[in-house]
This record gives sequence, C-alpha cells and structure tokens, in this order.
Amino acid sequence: MERVRVLAGHLTADCLDINEPSISRISTNAASSQGNTVDARYHARTGINSRGDYEKMYKRSIQDPAGFWQEQAQAFTWQRKWEQKHMDFNFDRWKGEIGIEFFKGGTTNMSYNCLDRNVKEGRGSQICFLWEGNDVGTDRRMTYQQVLDETCRVANWLKQEGVRKGDCVAIYMPLVCELPIAMLACARIGALHSVVFGGFSAEALASRIEGCRSKVLVTATGGARGKKPIELKKIADAAMDISKKNGFQVKSVLLYEHPAMPKSKVSSQQGRDVWYHEVIPKQSSSCAVEWLDAEAPLFLLYTSGSTGKPKGVVHTTGGYMVMAAVSTKYVFDLQPGDVYWCTADCGWITGHTYLTYGPLLNGATSVVYEGVPTHPDPSRIWQIVEKYKVRQLYTAPTLIRTLESHGDEFVTRHNRSSLKILGTVGEPINPRAWEWFYKVGGEGRCPIVDTWWQTETGGILITPLPGAWALKPGSATLPFFGVHPVLVDDKGREIDGSGEGILCMKTAWPSTIRTIYGDHKRMEETYFSTFNGYYFTGDGSRRDDQGFYWITGRVDDVINVSGHRVGTAEVESALQSHEQVIEAAVVGYDHNIKGQGIYAYVGLHEGVERSAQLKKELKALVRREIGAFAAPDVLHWAPGLPKTRSGKIMRRVLRKIATKEESQLGDTSTLADPSVVDKLLETRGQ
Ligand code: WTA
Repeated sequence: MERVRVLAGHLTADCLDINEPSISRISTNAASSQGNTVDARYHARTGINSRGDYEKMYKRSIQDPAGFWQEQAQAFTWQRKWEQKHMDFNFDRWKGEIGIEFFKGGTTNMSYNCLDRNVKEGRGSQICFLWEGNDVGTDRRMTYQQVLDETCRVANWLKQEGVRKGDCVAIYMPLVCELPIAMLACARIGALHSVVFGGFSAEALASRIEGCRSKVLVTATGGARGKKPIELKKIADAAMDISKKNGFQVKSVLLYEHPAMPKSKVSSQQGRDVWYHEVIPKQSSSCAVEWLDAEAPLFLLYTSGSTGKPKGVVHTTGGYMVMAAVSTKYVFDLQPGDVYWCTADCGWITGHTYLTYGPLLNGATSVVYEGVPTHPDPSRIWQIVEKYKVRQLYTAPTLIRTLESHGDEFVTRHNRSSLKILGTVGEPINPRAWEWFYKVGGEGRCPIVDTWWQTETGGILITPLPGAWALKPGSATLPFFGVHPVLVDDKGREIDGSGEGILCMKTAWPSTIRTIYGDHKRMEETYFSTFNGYYFTGDGSRRDDQGFYWITGRVDDVINVSGHRVGTAEVESALQSHEQVIEAAVVGYDHNIKGQGIYAYVGLHEGVERSAQLKKELKALVRREIGAFAAPDVLHWAPGLPKTRSGKIMRRVLRKIATKEESQLGDTSTLADPSVVDKLLETRGQ
C-alpha cells in the first residue's frame, strides 16, 4: 500500500504511476487542444483590466516577492512590523530542512484584521454575515459589530476553559454563523482551530480530535441540510467515546442548540457539555487580542493524501492572512460592502479562505447558506442570489452539473442581474458545464474565474482575473501574483513553453503549507521529495501556447469526488477492516455529476457469498469509518488483483477496467498473473 518510496533522499517518479502518467488520466477538458475563447467584458475596480496590467504586476511579484508581499501586507494592522529581510524559503531537501517564512518578526492577529479593523474603519453596522437556513424563510443577519462582540464572548469562554495560545480546538458544526465565529474566536486568542466537516463520521472525528489533542470541542445538537436533520451531537458523542477508549478525553464541549434538533432530543453530559445559549451571553463582549508572530500557526485542517491517514495541514497567521485577503480581492474584484457568496462549507479549505477570512479581510458581506443548494428545489441557489443581490458567486463544478441536469427554467425564473462574477473550484470543470454556467447562470455577462488551488496552498494559485483576459472554458488560465508554477516531466525536468507534465511550484507564496501537524518529515516527503527543489501538487497539467494552464486532475491516488478529496488508501483500509474481505483496491472513474466516482475492487475470503447484502454492508462500513461522501459508487467482487511480481497493484489496469477502456490496458506482461485481467473483465457488473 505504501506508494511513496524514498530513494536516496528523494522519490522516484515511478512510485507515483506517472510513467504513463497523468496523460492516461486526462479528463475531458484537456482533450480539446486549445478550446474556444470567451471574452466576458468586466471592468475590475482593482485596476487590473488587461493582460498587460497583469503582466506588469506579476513580473514585479516574481522579481521581488519580498517587496511585493510587504506592500500588500501594509493594508493590514500589524502590532509590530516585519524585519527588513522578512521572507525566506527552502524547497530543496539537499540544502536542509524544508521551511517557509513570510513577514518574519512581524506580529498581527487575524481576528483583529477581520473584525476590529473593519469596525474601526466605520463598517460596524454593515452586514458581515447574511445567513440563510435550509428551510426557505429562515434567515439571520449579523453586522461586523455583532460578529466582533460574539467572537469576543466565545473567545472569553475558551480562555475560561483553559484554552491557551498554541492549543487546538476542534469544531464540528453545521454551517451556522457560530461556526466562522468559533474560528475567529480561536484566532483571537492564538488557539489553532481544527474544523471537521459535519459530514465526517464519528471515527473520522475521533481521529482528528486525538490527532491534535483538542481538549475543547465546539459542536451543535444537529444541523439541517435537505430533508433530513443531521444528528451531529450523537456523532460527536460517539467520537468522544472512541477517543476515551483510545486514552484521550475531551474536557469541555460547547453545545449549540440548532432549531432542527431541539435540546430535548439530545443527551448532554454534566460536567463536560455546556449550552452555548446559557454560557456565551454571560461572557464579556470585549476580549483583547493576542498579538501573534506572523509564523505562529493559525489553524490546521485535515486533508486526504494518497497514503496513510489524513494529514493536518498547518497554515500560519501572517502569510495566510495576506494571501487570503489579496487573492480574494483580485480574483473576485471584492470591495468593502459587496455581497459575496461562496457556497462551500467551513469544513473545507474553501470555507476557511473564501467564506470566512478572505471576504472579512476585505470588508465584504459574506452569504452563509446552511442548506443544500437544490433544496427544496433546484432553483434555491438562484433564489438566494436574487434575495440578497449577490455580486460574486463562487461554487463547484459538481453543483453546476447538478443544476444543469435540472434544466434552465429553475435558473431563469429568478432575477440574476446583480451577478457580476462567477467562480468555480475543486475539480476541473468540463467545458459544457462551464458554458452552461456562463450562458444560463450568468446570462452571458459574467466572467467565470476557474480557480485552481489546494488545502495545502491555502489560497488560489492559478486563476483568471475578471476582465483582464479572454477566458477558455476548462482552463484555470494564469498564475496569481507571486506564484511561480512549472511543469516537469517524470524525471523532474522543467518543460518549457507549451506541453504537458506534472504541476509543481518553484517558489513559495505566503500561504504555502508550513508543516503537517506533528509530522514535519511527512510534509517534506509528501510535497518536497518527488521532485527535489519543487513543491509537488499531485496534479497534472497542460500549458497551451498562450501560457494558460489546463489542470488535468490528480496523478496520485487521490480521488476527487464532487470536489472532495478522498484518499484511496483510506477507503481501502475501511473495506479491509471487514472480516470477510481479504483485499481491496480503489480507483476513480469518470462520473457525470460528481466528476469522479469511487470504484472499489474487493476480494473476499473463500466461501463467502458475494451478495447484494454484503455490498450494502461494505458501503455502510465506509460511511461509518470516513463519511457518506466516501462510500463507493461501484463494488466489484474481484477474483484477484493485478499485481506485479513485487506485489505492487497495477492501478492503471484497474482504472481502465473501471472506465471500460480495456482496449487501452497497455502492457500487462509484467503482471505476476496476467490472467487476472480476464477474470476481472468477466466479473465486471456482477
Ligand atoms: C483539484 C480545494 C482543476 C485539484 C480548493 C487539487 C482543481 C485538489 C481545481 C485540491 C480547479 C481544485 N481545476 N482541479 N479549478 N481546484 N482542484 O485540497 O486536483 O480540497 O489538487 O482544495 O482539487 O483539493 P482541496
């Protein structure tokens, strides 16, 4: 299973299956060689309105990154300014430990810059969060002053519970205002937040709580998404029970009562659980901020990789803050007072950077929608756009495809004239979905910013800037300021001009991942060992003759399901924990709506009946171990798995069988038993 093999200090490319690489995994968008061009007119208030404007600023950002970033950072409040030589990084393992530093010597506070600064600048009575509940008609608005006051109350409670600078607080919440507020409260006192998406199971939550030893958990009775209420507290209780068995005990739980799940329906444990509505209003609404070193950790967020357990990606205070603010400003042309809506959940990086921090740092009004975008019907998203007069709408290709499948009428019945910019993130967008979003959603008026980035990059790295150049459906176009992407071949040699290869970053940007929580070595191995001297993204990409990037998808064993990263290793290990399973291998396949679906090959012990019931059980097992979004779409009873003589599973073959492309299986002569392939083809669909 261990696919990352260290050879004399660095990895060989063949462990990543990139010999026949990415190229065999090019998704539809890369197939069209250049794509058609769409010139959406937009006049950006940032002043970047042509490729020339961009080139000028981009060039400067690459030639003098330290100067460029410090200029950008000046827009914020720093308690102490950074040193003259504030920026440094090392991406080369031969030269020593991998390290990244921005704004060295400076001290600041994220919560201050998101809230107090806006209030001081006169935005206290401006709406900060426009919250929309799952059910039509449920909504709530909070001004910057109100969010500041509430953040202080929660911060004071955290302090009262003994949370100190550097401690980690786990947050397992539905998407109510109290979720970003809990994040801001942690940031205020220098505690790291670790937000766990509400769709994760008890097992997944437990391992995250233990991973960063969170003594405090902020959670809710439940949440409402679609028709069924979600029983968050029940899952949180189960998670804390698991952790207790593993020897770790959560000391206090702040429990928010969600209207969809009344207090009476959940159990609470005396001495550990306290009710949000009882304890928080009693706290003072002022709380001095903790001024933190620019490099002090701000949060950690777990994400799946190709091997082992999810990793706690750590971002730091100063660099992440500046990148979040500057990218939001330029990519969405965001100005104070704009009504901006990012449909992501705070449980993912997009909800951190582009629902919470980025918009608030820019003094915007951020729409926070708790429900499902198709509830009660597929017009909901457009209804919300109309209701709040949303200017920028940032969402995911999977949702666009879902909406498209329901037809235009749901869209056109709502007034969308407020929309100026559309955005997508999370996976490659196929040109058809792009065109639909552009023509129908945005009435052919709004540029689409197809933003490429990752949990580890903290902010957007490759993206169009609205109005600055003509777009090509399916291309994320050009690097953001200060970002230096390169394409390398399987030997790590840089490819010049147009071509296709593995996407890497040559230099650091302010929100570069700093470490993996508690395991710096793993971070060095995962991102800086594949190609020495480069940050390895795990994605393949093509670059056309205009310099535009076309992301082709992951080249490692990470599956992107509806924009959510699922590590094949995690799903395999869940399946293998079933006593009737001998072995399992999981690959991705093209899925109409989700982008990629999960296809699991499962080998059973002799004599075990291959029943539909067992399939159900195995899917439920994955749901329980990881979460519903990771449940396999297809289970294939495998009589055997294609392995090389050294025992390595040849995933390329499994992918081709899953996608019914067996005519392109390639060379299978190195398999220990080539007849396995025929047996797999015979058993497909059974
Ligand atoms: C994929 C989400 C193509 C990519 C912010 C990346 C994309 C992974 C795009 C990160 C895009 C994200 N075009 N692919 N515009 N945006 N991806 O960490 O494979 O959840 O490596 O961060 O999503 O997923 P993550």
